[in-house]
Amino acid sequence: MNHFPPRDGIVHCEDVPLPQLARAVGTPVFVYSSGAMLAQAQRLRAALAPLGDPLIAYAVKANPNAAVLATMAAAGLGADVVSGGEYARARASGVPAGKIVFSGVGKTAAEMRRALEGGLRQFNLESAEEAEMLSAVASAMGRVAPVAIRVNPDVEAGTHAKISTGAAHSKFGIPIADAIDAAARVKALPGLDLAGVAVHIGSQLTSLAPLERAFGKLGALIAELRAAGHDIRTADLGGGLGLRYDPSAPEPPSIEDYGAMVARVTRGWDVRLIFEPGRLIVGDAGVLLTEVIRVKAGAAQPFVVLDAAMNDLMRPSLYDAWHGIEAVRPDGETMIADIVGPVCESGDTFATARLIDRVAAGELMIIRTAGAYGATMASTYNSRALVPEVLVNGAEWEVVRERRDTEAFLREEHVPAWVGRELV
Ligand code: LLP
Repeated sequence: MNHFPPRDGIVHCEDVPLPQLARAVGTPVFVYSSGAMLAQAQRLRAALAPLGDPLIAYAVKANPNAAVLATMAAAGLGADVVSGGEYARARASGVPAGKIVFSGVGKTAAEMRRALEGGLRQFNLESAEEAEMLSAVASAMGRVAPVAIRVNPDVEAGTHAKISTGAAHSKFGIPIADAIDAAARVKALPGLDLAGVAVHIGSQLTSLAPLERAFGKLGALIAELRAAGHDIRTADLGGGLGLRYDPSAPEPPSIEDYGAMVARVTRGWDVRLIFEPGRLIVGDAGVLLTEVIRVKAGAAQPFVVLDAAMNDLMRPSLYDAWHGIEAVRPDGETMIADIVGPVCESGDTFATARLIDRVAAGELMIIRTAGAYGATMASTYNSRALVPEVLVNGAEWEVVRERRDTEAFLREEHVPAWVGRELV
């Protein structure tokens, strides 16, 4: 189902016409469809149902908005968190402690303490050094921390280098060849209970083959660990399944194909499976709604200057990512243009020489697939307001994050009394 349907020539989010939101909240603004994210969560749950009772731990980093997390929690999902902040958000949004997995290569002692106090399903350990720290923290608290060893399977994920995490040179995980030694160390340390293994090789994967290779290696490791006397009960297969950003690109593997592959590879593992999907659930559920400030003549083609910029949606400038860009009221005509923001860098470009709907100053556009890694990666660069977020449910909608504007910046910053003193 299309949750951003055109109706009477105007793009809606569910039953709300986007121009109504732009008028009420201003632009730029991220607009999310709760129906779209719930439908994806449901589809994933259905595809994974044959695997027993897997834990789907939504990767909070993809979109940590409190209303989004509460929607996920209400749908029965857990949370994959990578910081004390994400842990606190997940708990405050109603995710039960037993459904929280704590990942990340640089967990601090304070973050470990906080999660142990509040409770969690498991820590995914990324190094022997981290195991030592967690052991000390848990022992001092008189607790036993449930842990999994995140391995680095040395598999190239075939995605953008900046979001690839499973190759030998990457900072993530314990090299799979060292996993048996690491498990022995973990077992010898007080305050740790080795419950499982974990792997995550990257994000926006558009082929199942690298995932299948990584999972195959994980299966062999489980057998080795059991042979060495470890009681392996969980296997966390991470996230990473990609979306189709560009409708002219090949269709990525479906959720159902993914489920079938996992079922085939994990047959006989006899573990509880954990998944950490982020983008897959929220990516297509959001758009960035923006207004055309002006259309400026250019050497090769015109520049469509939007009021959204690289600080609001970093993916195109950071990863050369392709996002669909469309008019909210298309008139059937097209144009070729560079679509840019107002920030003072040439990297502030959403698309180059792109065939788009014809637009003029004052008209609205949407940038698609902005529900994941959009608002959460935004900054206030160029002293631009932090974009607000709106959640839509049928004909209802609500601002779920306020715009943080210049007034707020000025309130938050302080000039010491000594500045300029020697000049008077
Ligand atoms: N689990 C772990 C340990 C992760 O590091 C990640 C993502 C996920 C799960 C969720 O991956 P997903 O299902 O969303 O692909 N900012 C980048 C993406 C960074 C992904 C980082 N880790 C982007 O905009 O493409």
